[in-house]
Amino acid sequence: MIAIHNSKSGFHPAWIVYCQEQGIPFKLVNCLDDDIIEQLKGFEALLWHHSHMVPKDLIAAKTILAALSHLGFPVFPDYRTNWHFDDKLAQKYLLESLELPLVKTFVFYDTEHALSWAKGTNFPMVHKLKTGSGSKHVQLVVNYNEARKIILKAFGKGFSNYSPYNSLKERVYQFKNGKAHWISLVKGLLRFVHYPEYATVQGKERGYVLFQEFVPNNPSDIRVIVIGNKAFAITRWVRKDDFRASGSGHFSHDPDMIPLSCVESAFKANQKLKGQCFAFDFVIDQQQNPRIIEVSYGFSPEVFRLCPGYWDKNLIWHDGRFIPEHWMIEILLKKVGVDKPF
Ligand SMILES: Nc1ncnc2c1ncn2[C@@H]1O[C@H](COP(=O)(O)OP(=O)(O)O)[C@@H](O)[C@H]1O
Ligand SMILES: [Mg+2]
Repeated sequence: MIAIHNSKSGFHPAWIVYCQEQGIPFKLVNCLDDDIIEQLKGFEALLWHHSHMVPKDLIAAKTILAALSHLGFPVFPDYRTNWHFDDKLAQKYLLESLELPLVKTFVFYDTEHALSWAKGTNFPMVHKLKTGSGSKHVQLVVNYNEARKIILKAFGKGFSNYSPYNSLKERVYQFKNGKAHWISLVKGLLRFVHYPEYATVQGKERGYVLFQEFVPNNPSDIRVIVIGNKAFAITRWVRKDDFRASGSGHFSHDPDMIPLSCVESAFKANQKLKGQCFAFDFVIDQQQNPRIIEVSYGFSPEVFRLCPGYWDKNLIWHDGRFIPEHWMIEILLKKVGVDKPF
């Protein structure tokens, strides 16, 4: 019997349908119950698509899943897949340790070191907070003075995890492109008074500053998702007059647009990371090499429903629609030692 966290969002609905169709015994559980560890004693595995935008998940999910991993209890996402999720600091150290092709990333923990680095560096650079998605906390820094301002803020009052101004700007952009309803604009205005709870829970980002080399001339980023021996990908176009793709809402599912070097690099990275499911965001550097800017186990499954097929480990293309959530369960069931549904 497997346990699935009781939620209607993310991967959960497809997991439930798959179990029903395949006759896999499952039960919905609430991972936030006080006695969840006790409850899971009757189960063989747990699936939980926790999110960095859900306040309670933010507080509890990594901790609970890590505790279960200590027991060797099969979970999705498992420890190797999960501990660095939504944490660009963690990803810097992880990818550097494994010598994976992360775009060169610099992190400082005090003003003095950060300013002295900024004085000797070439701009532009990209400043990022360690948390966040949809390009919310990613900005281009074009000169020393801008970097200095960011550094002083990082070690001064810090950065809020939510900027109502940037959020409204993004909503206007999405509205103009027909991707958002006008009600979203009203909500954006209300956000000046009521911050989303996840941002309040997370508190301010301060005490560190993270810069990344800017990789120019990328009209898109390329998101390759690897689950076991299968990979699929989309091209995400950057916003108009901007360098940032994530969250733009403009993408292509055409596999011919995807450089095979990105797919190959994603498989190689996964071999070292030894995880269950990773979305790798790539940009292409001046030497035409794929470079990783971020890795994440979680993604919006709806965006990938139109992918017309996938590549296997030998980079052979397989035509046909698929549901990636099914592959996640299959990987987990293999760990339980059951290749076929039980
Ligand atoms: N170092 C970089 N060089 C060039 N473009 C970048 C770089 N880092 C990020 N980007 C662009 O900005 C977008 C958001 O960056 P990312 O680090 O993936 O943040 P998020 O977690 O918000 O998705 C990416 O989709 C990419 O288009
Ligand atoms: Mg990203």
